Amino acid sequence: MTTLLIATRNAHKVGEIAAILGADFHCRPLLKEFPSAPVPVEDADTFSGNAAKKAVSLATWLESIGMTWGTDADHVFVLADDSGLEVDALGGAPGVHSARFAARDTGADGNSADADNNAKLLRLLADVPKEQRNARFRCVIALVEVNRAVPLLVPQVFDGACEGWIEFAPRGAGGFGYDPLFIPLGQTQSFAELGEQVKNGLSHRALALARLREWFSGNGGK
Ligand code: IMP
Repeated sequence: MTTLLIATRNAHKVGEIAAILGADFHCRPLLKEFPSAPVPVEDADTFSGNAAKKAVSLATWLESIGMTWGTDADHVFVLADDSGLEVDALGGAPGVHSARFAARDTGADGNSADADNNAKLLRLLADVPKEQRNARFRCVIALVEVNRAVPLLVPQVFDGACEGWIEFAPRGAGGFGYDPLFIPLGQTQSFAELGEQVKNGLSHRALALARLREWFSGNGGK
């Protein structure tokens, strides 16, 4: 069995990752189990830079506190995900700043409330017609194995993108983040309306995790 220590405080993300990967992987919420784990500032200008930084620093920290997990049959990895929304009419914004899009105007600390981010996005796109509201969610996942005899801190990186467009008003109550505003290509409902099962079949995260699964079923961390 492969254990994945999921490095995010976003419970929705942990739930999505566990639901997408299913019973072949044991997914554990790393930052819930280790609240004192130091989470690095996500200050890279790419999703992959931030995901790699998170995975490497948390794997290094776990090694430093002497966590012992894993046997020949049980491999343990830190999995860090960095994701966000790119809107063409905004030159790719909010991009790596998706989580604190609204706070960038006020200088407030920490991530912004989803409602504030969505309100800002709608305000910026107020005069943009439907045919120019193209957008995509992107997800990059970085994976670092922990508890190896010789620590190897070079992450494996997997990415996924889901194309769509931005609605004129929020729709639906499911999901998180920008889900109520994002209509995936080929659908007429938002991610928040489509529900977890449909979203997890076509999302950016599902595509990145499909690549991760392929890697494990090839040579992978085995
Ligand atoms: P991260 O936690 O730094 O990766 O920030 C990602 C941010 O991008 C989240 O706070 C959301 O605002 C947005 N985001 C990423 N993935 C999704 C998704 O699947 N649905 C809706 N919003 C998302």
